[in-house]
Amino acid sequence: MPIISFMNMKGGVGKTTLCVNIANTLSTYSKEKVLLIDMDPQFNSSQYVLRVLHGKDHVKKYAEYKKQGKTIYSLYEDTNKPHGPITESKNTLFNTKKIDDSHLKKDYTVNVKKNFDMLLGDIDLLNLEINQKSGVESVLAKYLELSGLRSKYKYILIDSPPTYSVFFISSYITCDAYVLPVKPDYLSSTGIALMERAEGSIMNTFGIEKIALGVIYTLIDPRNQLHIPVQQDIKKEIGAENIFKHELKYIKAIPEGLSTGKFMLDIPDFKTDSTIKSMTEELILKIQEKINS
Ligand SMILES: Nc1ncnc2c1ncn2[C@@H]1O[C@H](COP(=O)(O)OP(=O)(O)O)[C@@H](O)[C@H]1O
Ligand SMILES: [Mg+2]
Repeated sequence: MPIISFMNMKGGVGKTTLCVNIANTLSTYSKEKVLLIDMDPQFNSSQYVLRVLHGKDHVKKYAEYKKQGKTIYSLYEDTNKPHGPITESKNTLFNTKKIDDSHLKKDYTVNVKKNFDMLLGDIDLLNLEINQKSGVESVLAKYLELSGLRSKYKYILIDSPPTYSVFFISSYITCDAYVLPVKPDYLSSTGIALMERAEGSIMNTFGIEKIALGVIYTLIDPRNQLHIPVQQDIKKEIGAENIFKHELKYIKAIPEGLSTGKFMLDIPDFKTDSTIKSMTEELILKIQEKINS
């Protein structure tokens, strides 16, 4: 039942790839239901999963779901409807106490694979962000409670956007704990400091702090040693206990899997399958250690 967000304010550090593949691995091995929530308006994790499972038909498949209202946009749609002329008091529409909750009791998830459900992302979220007022950050958390989804799943994973936005804040305030995928090069590793700043800001506004499960290194270039000094610096700063032992190298077969219909678990090259399995096991241990204790 824990809700885990994959967060980093840097893009291109492997958040989506890790989140999707850990969700797939959990659903395959835990034999219990997993929900993946695509909170990024760029909806890369939705495209990833549908591309792997449906090949060229993935655009058509997504359009079908979208037509049925089966994307995350449905959570916000009712709160975004025009409600007559805007007055001072109407501005409190987005105060969660005053939102009409009835649409938040519905199930907008789709089943993509055995034990693997998704709340698909939606680029239309970008239009909402501009219009919305305060309170929208708590819609996702409220939805998971009211719809009963929270108790339906063994694990809920959230793929987060890289920019500080209502959706980034939503991912943070909805989760119980988060993991921080980090590409260990000098420019990308500043994502750790940015995350700390974002946390500080969310804490000031909402007064909540979530459990950090740790940094997962991704996209390590095996052809050089440039990552080593960066990793040494990070270890000094945050401590080895806050860094996952399993790391993910740059492996060409991972992005290729999008066209060959393979998640990491189905790729034996360079031990991609065993790496994602070990990483997922390490995540389960961290959850048991840091959340369930
Ligand atoms: N371990 C990896 N090996 C090779 N390519 C990867 C790996 N992880 C991610 N990628 C590729 O790098 C790009 C960025 O990854 P992505 O997971 O989308 O990052 P983010 O969600 O942080 O923006 C994508 O094209 C993805 O396919
Ligand atoms: Mg992403």
